Amino acid sequence: MPKQDQNLIVGLDIGTTKICCVVADLQPDGRLDIIGIGTHSSRGLRKGVVIDIDSTVESMRMAVEEAEMMAGVEINMVYAGIAGGHIKSGNSNGVVATKNNEVTAADIQRVLDAARAQNVPMDREIIHVIPQEFILDGQDGIKEPLGMSGVRLEARVHIVTGAVASAQNIIKCINRCGLDVGDIILEQLASAETVLTSDEKELGVCLLDIGGGTTDIAIFSEGHIKHTAVLAIGGDHITNDIAVGLRTPTREAEALKRKYGCALSSLVDPEETIDVPSIGERKPRSLARHILAEIIEPRVEELFTLVNREISRSGFEEQITAGVVLTGGSAITEGMVELAEEVFNKPVRRGLPQGIGGLTDVVSSPIYSTAVGLVQFASLNEREMSNRFTPAESRATRSTFQRFVDRVRGAF
Ligand SMILES: Nc1ncnc2c1ncn2[C@@H]1O[C@H](COP(=O)(O)OP(=O)(O)OP(=O)(O)O)[C@@H](O)[C@H]1O
Ligand SMILES: [Mg+2]
Repeated sequence: MPKQDQNLIVGLDIGTTKICCVVADLQPDGRLDIIGIGTHSSRGLRKGVVIDIDSTVESMRMAVEEAEMMAGVEINMVYAGIAGGHIKSGNSNGVVATKNNEVTAADIQRVLDAARAQNVPMDREIIHVIPQEFILDGQDGIKEPLGMSGVRLEARVHIVTGAVASAQNIIKCINRCGLDVGDIILEQLASAETVLTSDEKELGVCLLDIGGGTTDIAIFSEGHIKHTAVLAIGGDHITNDIAVGLRTPTREAEALKRKYGCALSSLVDPEETIDVPSIGERKPRSLARHILAEIIEPRVEELFTLVNREISRSGFEEQITAGVVLTGGSAITEGMVELAEEVFNKPVRRGLPQGIGGLTDVVSSPIYSTAVGLVQFASLNEREMSNRFTPAESRATRSTFQRFVDRVRGAF
């Protein structure tokens, strides 16, 4: 098989329930065509964090091999997602004076460095420093200041940090598969890249990626990221509630949830019945479907209430004019959108990967938002870097996280 070349961008979503590898081919017009996809169930993670390296490596290998077969290339570098309760984020700013009354790439780098210069504890690592806007001599709302005239350059940024150990374990697993890490990207930023429209981000929107082990939150307004958070609750909690409530094995509970689950019990016909397999040798029982919905509803309501609290705490509640977008596997459940509209009192829609070509029918599910978003996020980032910096400069200004990736790699 030919080796991965410069035009191929590979995303690796290391989720709690599945590991998914997506290969995208960058077209000359900037479009990304999905040419390979591999998915394997994941057993080495809890609540979005790697807890068993061997199992994770095994699942990762399978997913990557499957994607390689489909794309007909040998993968050697991936952009991976990171999530988990250890993720923290906040906004910061920095100010510098431009050197020659005109903003250069070096000035931009200096102002971003100034904005990130805050006390990060030893056990945490900066994952992203995302510019929200630049302010040049008091003029705000500037997206790209390069080449503009002015003296006082200010940057407002969103900073995401994560536990060093969690990030190290992700890198370790990828390296053990014989792959390099291009970068590590916060999962909801990846999902947002493919699921949200630019109008929504401009108007103000909250993205919820409800996976198996975590619910990842991202709030955008005025076109840029304002707030990120991760809650350690996801679809697996719903499955557990069903298993306990209906006294049925977890595997059956999962199947029942997928086939008959509904998050809003009032949407279910009270007459409808379903068969519930019992534990052991006992015969299946017949049950009203709304009882299943009555188990799911309080758990999802609890989740949305926690999200609502997080939104209020963020201080951006008033800015979410375009409402809430749900993605991730758990967003598939019937009634999710309706229940979310009740709790949030805002318009809600389900979001799928958008803006790609190639195997779009295969990845057209909320389950693939993070994996597809990873390649889109990575591609956009690379393009921004190459517009702003020469190749030599961009090597010199590689993110601190990239340097961290290199350091971890050197440790093996
Ligand atoms: N058709 C379906 N109906 C309802 N729920 C579903 C369906 N398909 C998948 N799910 C649920 O979606 C969840 C998995 O979603 P997803 O694949 O986005 O998670 P993940 O990325 O592996 O996990 P995380 O992001 O939390 O680490 C599981 O809890 C699963 O039960
Ligand atoms: Mg996920």
